[in-house]
Amino acid sequence: MAKIAMLGAGFIGDFYTFSINGQRSRDKVCVIYSRDEARGRAFAEKHGIARWTTSMEEAVNDPEADVVIIGLPNSLHLKAVELAASAKKPVLCTKPLGCNADEAKKMLELVEKAGVPHGYLEDLVYTPKTLKALQSVRTGAIGKVIWTRSRETHPGPHSDWFWTKSVSGGGVLLDMGCHCIEIGRNYIGKDIKPVEVMCWADTLVKPIEAEDNALGWVKYDNGAIGQFEVSWSFRGGMDLRDEVMGTEGTIWVNNFLRTGFEIFTAGGKKGYVAEKSETEKGWVFPVGDEVVELGYTDMFTDMFDSLDNKREPSETFYDGYIVNEIMDACYRSAKSKKWEPVRLDIWRGQAKASKISELISYDENHFLVKEERMPDGSVKLILKDKKTGVISQIVKK
Ligand SMILES: NC(=O)c1ccc[n+]([C@@H]2O[C@H](COP(=O)([O-])OP(=O)(O)OC[C@H]3O[C@@H](n4cnc5c(N)ncnc54)[C@H](O)[C@@H]3O)[C@@H](O)[C@H]2O)c1
Repeated sequence: MAKIAMLGAGFIGDFYTFSINGQRSRDKVCVIYSRDEARGRAFAEKHGIARWTTSMEEAVNDPEADVVIIGLPNSLHLKAVELAASAKKPVLCTKPLGCNADEAKKMLELVEKAGVPHGYLEDLVYTPKTLKALQSVRTGAIGKVIWTRSRETHPGPHSDWFWTKSVSGGGVLLDMGCHCIEIGRNYIGKDIKPVEVMCWADTLVKPIEAEDNALGWVKYDNGAIGQFEVSWSFRGGMDLRDEVMGTEGTIWVNNFLRTGFEIFTAGGKKGYVAEKSETEKGWVFPVGDEVVELGYTDMFTDMFDSLDNKREPSETFYDGYIVNEIMDACYRSAKSKKWEPVRLDIWRGQAKASKISELISYDENHFLVKEERMPDGSVKLILKDKKTGVISQIVKK
């Protein structure tokens, strides 16, 4: 049973608390930190939390709290981790871990030096569909993963600080690219080293300093590619989709928008529909249970189970650090317009991964390249001579 000090009474603090205090959960938020007294009190009353405070230090050192959760703007994550590490309390931090890899590395070093358990709150690798899809990948259902594609787009974030680069550390690439990159890593294999990236990022629509649109490719040591597509100027709600292509199969996941629950309302829904929904009238696309479908429930179950059982959760500060390093390389690439290496001062996965390509023997002298049934009913086989390398075809009637 975890007793939590929640830092941040904003959007994610609210979602996290709904998820943790929800249903008949054993785990409870026992103190909320908000820099604003009135917001803190209102948050505590809404969620039935015993104490609120305007001091981050007081919340972290609350005698009842045995876990610290960070749901503050990006530029405050490091400070909050410092406090939790010096209080020797387990700490779970929202995404992105740091504003950049230097910060993320400091956070990883702080918790490891203090010997406190840590978790990276990357909810989108815990959506029920993603968990099932990952299980299928790990049992070999789609063979070896060749490439992944992860898309997170919406009309832009809900608070001023996201749009202010000095506080957020970056634009949509940092804010949402972190989700897509970690989803790709999970499918490709977190022990396979990300080696280089190519990224395009630009400010196309919004009057801001940071990028509001970005696309990128993360190349892994085994040759696999993780593509990400992120936007703060997409219209029509929040689009969270992933595709995985393997040597033996394919997975398509739609996590949020238009997933089979549709309401038409001529008068208007009169209230919240779903995160980042743009309309309350006409056809609307609600989500059954957002905290479950966005992964928060399974994420906290993994986090608190790991604390109870003294094991690591699936996502740790180390993962957050790797993601920040990949994003730093993306920013370098967007500037240089070239493939940029991912600089990993800390790497704990495979030193060298074997390549994806596989040779299937057709007979003693040939490899099979491809087999296809043609419209006339025949079967065409494309073969490669093992000695000469010559490609040929045979047709079986
Ligand atoms: N899916 C996700 O995992 C997800 C979704 C949204 C946000 N987040 C992350 O959560 C963090 C917070 O984002 P949010 O959406 O809750 O933002 P928010 O603006 O809704 O809430 C942030 C909270 O921090 C407070 N705050 C702002 N500046 C502060 C300061 N200088 N000192 C102390 N408190 C301050 C605000 O008053 C508010 O209570 C960010 O790191 C963001 O990336 C994660």
